[in-house]
Amino acid sequence: MEVENANCKIRVSQCTHMEISPIEQPLKIDRYTRNLVDAGNGAFNIMILCWGPGHASAIHDHADSHCFMKVLSGNLEEVRYNWPDNVEPEVMKVLKKNKTRRRCCSDTDVFQCQNGNCQNSRAINQNSNGKITENKEYSSFENGTANANGGDKMAAERNGDYDNKCEENDEEYEAQDMEEVGRTRLEVDDVCYINDALGLHRMENPSHVDCAVSLHLYCPPFDSCRVFDARTGKPTTVNVTFWSMYGKKVKRVMEASEMADSQ
Ligand code: SIN
Repeated sequence: MEVENANCKIRVSQCTHMEISPIEQPLKIDRYTRNLVDAGNGAFNIMILCWGPGHASAIHDHADSHCFMKVLSGNLEEVRYNWPDNVEPEVMKVLKKNKTRRRCCSDTDVFQCQNGNCQNSRAINQNSNGKITENKEYSSFENGTANANGGDKMAAERNGDYDNKCEENDEEYEAQDMEEVGRTRLEVDDVCYINDALGLHRMENPSHVDCAVSLHLYCPPFDSCRVFDARTGKPTTVNVTFWSMYGKKVKRVMEASEMADSQ
């Protein structure tokens, strides 16, 4: 079965109920779309993201989750950033709260997930071989909830299926440019991984003409995260939403401005 919208067209064998009403076909979509393919019994989300020419995500964190992605078609560019000095990853808050020791994972770690919790199986093996005898709790992860205050609506609105969640409280915020630490061009079949311990990122389809399609695995799944204003580093908590779920377009109320754009 093919998943198709204005951004892309891709064959997804698991989708059996795709509905595309003709009236939606000519709609111009000005953001990348997030399409849920499998919710893994609550343990993970597998999504297909469709990027039109020039579409980009905002700089975002991953709500203490693991993010794996693979390019299925076209090219994408991943831009990585350090955390702003005055914003804390969710994992740090959890660590402080629990007062337990937990180590961050590396790109080469392997994760096993059950009942919404992910464990680093490489670490488990090492433990059982007696190579690692401490940090027993470091590889357990629970779904984090982003709840930071302060932020910039522009960054939230720029993002694909993200809804601005909090009305921001305008506490004094020390603005700071986001520090870019790397760019990676991703071609078909390239895979990348990030979690909050590794920093923040955004994705971009650098092409002015071609679409791109990517496969994303988030483990555990999350329904809100933080997006960051590139000029100030200010975070905004946003809800993440889907353009389609299991091949069916999610119905949502269109705002007046969107209706005008689509005519
Ligand atoms: C998203 O899940 O919407 C963001 C994709 C990305 O930029 O990694």
